[in-house]
Amino acid sequence: MSSESVTAAQGKPVGGTVNPLGTSEQSLDAQNQAHNRGDGGSAAPSGAHHDETAEIAAYTRALTKVYGSGDAEVVALDHVDVDFARARFTAVMGPSGSGKSTLMHCVAGLDSPTSGEVVIGDTNIATLKDSKLTELRRDRIGFVFQSFNLIPTLTALENIELPMSIAGRKPDQEWLDHVIDIVGLRSRLKHKPSQLSGGQQQRVACARALVGKPDIIFADEPTGNLDSAASAEILGFLASSVSDLGQTIVMVTHDPTAAAYADRALFLADGRIVSDMDDPDRDKVLERMVGLNSSPGSADAVATPTVQA
Ligand SMILES: Nc1ncnc2c1ncn2[C@@H]1O[C@H](COP(=O)(O)OP(=O)(O)OP(=O)(O)O)[C@@H](O)[C@H]1O
Ligand SMILES: [Mg+2]
Repeated sequence: MSSESVTAAQGKPVGGTVNPLGTSEQSLDAQNQAHNRGDGGSAAPSGAHHDETAEIAAYTRALTKVYGSGDAEVVALDHVDVDFARARFTAVMGPSGSGKSTLMHCVAGLDSPTSGEVVIGDTNIATLKDSKLTELRRDRIGFVFQSFNLIPTLTALENIELPMSIAGRKPDQEWLDHVIDIVGLRSRLKHKPSQLSGGQQQRVACARALVGKPDIIFADEPTGNLDSAASAEILGFLASSVSDLGQTIVMVTHDPTAAAYADRALFLADGRIVSDMDDPDRDKVLERMVGLNSSPGSADAVATPTVQA
């Protein structure tokens, strides 16, 4: 790997005490400085502007995931170094097959890396026994799956409450009501997933991730099946949970308009971070997507056809 990863791998402070809401006093300015890696399309964070005081909710070092072997080998993640600052909203973008879901699954402890490190808060997840990893996922991580992963025999409401019921925790009723109203599911709470549209199932999956106020929410295309009004409502809510409550969110999206709700956009190609943008807006994101596709340094990304610019 390049010297960039060596620089980025130098010690970063990791959030010490875990606050269930992630309500950090950290100013966004400080966090922005931590991620002030320029919009120049560099291959990896340089760390040059790193603010030693920024709290990091999760990070990876040389994270590598290889599927299969021999001719069937696919390097889904290739030595990825990334920090996710607490109380920030990060969009992860990139062509289909670039490794976005794999990154989310590995950082959330749902899949194990081939090599490299994943640290959540102050816990290196490789050191955890299965039961402790399950606990960490249940108590500190919310995940919105690309394929929803709802339990077919449970109602929408039971699905939303499930992670908390398993953990033996009672949802904060006021917050639960608020989340249900924001995702627009009030009239569908007694329906089973098979009785819901794709978009409604996606909203149940979003509500399920939000209701326990986890340290980090990973959302894999949470608005992929929603119309623009429903998307705007959920994205606005996600963004306000970051700005108002200090929630940390990492969201995969193909949609430049959705990415514009985030504080930062990362671009993956062929399992590597190829660009890191602060304060994305739709036009900047579109420009970067086009730029990545025509950059000589990302020849493989050019070959991948599904960037929707
Ligand atoms: N279980 C698996 N076995 C073999 N290869 C896999 C497996 N899961 C993912 N891959 C491969 O790893 C690469 C990255 O896949 P991943 O699902 O992370 O892409 P993605 O960026 O999320 O794509 P999309 O935008 O289509 O969801 C792809 O080439 C994919 O075919
Ligand atoms: Mg995916």
